[in-house]
Amino acid sequence: MSPKIQAPRGTFDVLGDDALARAALEAQARRILERAGYARIETPTFEATELFARGVGESTDVVQKEMYTLDEGPSESLTLRPEGTAPVCRAYLEHGMHKLPQPVKLWYLSSFFRRERPQAGRFRQFWQVGAEAIGSDDPAVDAELILLLSELLEALGARGLRLRLGSLGTPATRETYRRDLQDYLRAHEGELSEEVRGRIDLNPLRAFDADHPGTRRVMAGAPLLLDHLTDEDREHFETVKTLLDGAGVAYEVDPTLVRGLDYYTRTVFEMTSDELGAQSGVGGGGRYDGLMEIIGGPPTPGMGWAAGVERILLASPRPPVAPPPLDLYVAFVGAEHRPGAFRLAADARRAGYSARLELGGRSLKGQLKQADRAGARFVAILGEEGTSLKDMESGEQKTVEPDTVMHHIRGGKAL
Ligand code: HAM
Repeated sequence: MSPKIQAPRGTFDVLGDDALARAALEAQARRILERAGYARIETPTFEATELFARGVGESTDVVQKEMYTLDEGPSESLTLRPEGTAPVCRAYLEHGMHKLPQPVKLWYLSSFFRRERPQAGRFRQFWQVGAEAIGSDDPAVDAELILLLSELLEALGARGLRLRLGSLGTPATRETYRRDLQDYLRAHEGELSEEVRGRIDLNPLRAFDADHPGTRRVMAGAPLLLDHLTDEDREHFETVKTLLDGAGVAYEVDPTLVRGLDYYTRTVFEMTSDELGAQSGVGGGGRYDGLMEIIGGPPTPGMGWAAGVERILLASPRPPVAPPPLDLYVAFVGAEHRPGAFRLAADARRAGYSARLELGGRSLKGQLKQADRAGARFVAILGEEGTSLKDMESGEQKTVEPDTVMHHIRGGKAL
């Protein structure tokens, strides 16, 4: 035998109950998001590498280490999408969506690709459900999107949820703040861990995540970006909070919340679940008012989020999923009755019933067992003695005229 080929590391097959649970998640997302005016969008699985390099940011882990870039020769570089926001913005520009009433509200449920070290809740191909509202900087957009994610997670029964909220202000504010923080860290260099000391130039914000006791003591008195926002940005953030309060959405303000992607401005947020281990991020997002310009469009504000489908399912109880109902199982005895059975199953489906034909060459006994296992309401049996119909609920069986089968099963009536 040839060696077996397995699914690549960090990928998985979707089967059985898992497929049903995902379909239920998609139905909830559609219900909640379309009710709020979000329309479905699909973008290509791969895009120009440049879109992510510029959009997500050259210095991010995603762009530096995690992209699957396809070998297309020297003139073109394509990358499997690691996220959905830059592609949605690209589509907005490409289709002139600025001519539509603003904001344009879009949602997606698609698979994404990142070359990460696989572990529980972290895959190399994973699915995200996401929503983006482009063309308005109204803080109500931010609050509404956050509310929609929390409604979706609630509807799915996700447990142990926590919402952290912050604001990053504008890139200019961030740059000034970064310098202030660097000055502060340098002034306390002697008390910091070696690692943090080595990162002052490159990534001073990382100091907030340190476990080192001395560093933690220093960081307790460190300047916070939230205290350095411009009046306009502070007011924007205050309005987002007021709207969330009014809608009864609980959150914690986290002044050190940072996200792994470069395009964020103003509002950022992250939803975590205590049910998940190290990979506790269920979903997150924020405002990206500068992204459209970075990818070559006119200044256009935007806001959105994405949540990992696998992580939502890990954080949620599995409701018992019933297999789809089966109105009719068509059994036959003798190959000469196969064409009649084939026709009957097709006619039943055309008439709107769920119907399955025996395809496994089983004995009559085997076929009845199979029909029972599939939960069939009726079984039609075609054979020497004509057509008979068995009511699987009452166990009653009687001979019927072949063209009256549909009449008998209509409405699932007992024989
Ligand atoms: P992100 O935080 O990189 O944001 O990903 C969003 C969610 O996708 C995460 O919270 C997590 O649940 C899931 N996720 C990310 N990577 C993996 C992985 N390797 N395996 C399993 N799940 C994963 C974004 O992607 C932004 N585009 C969100 C956004 C939309 N911001 C504005 N609009």
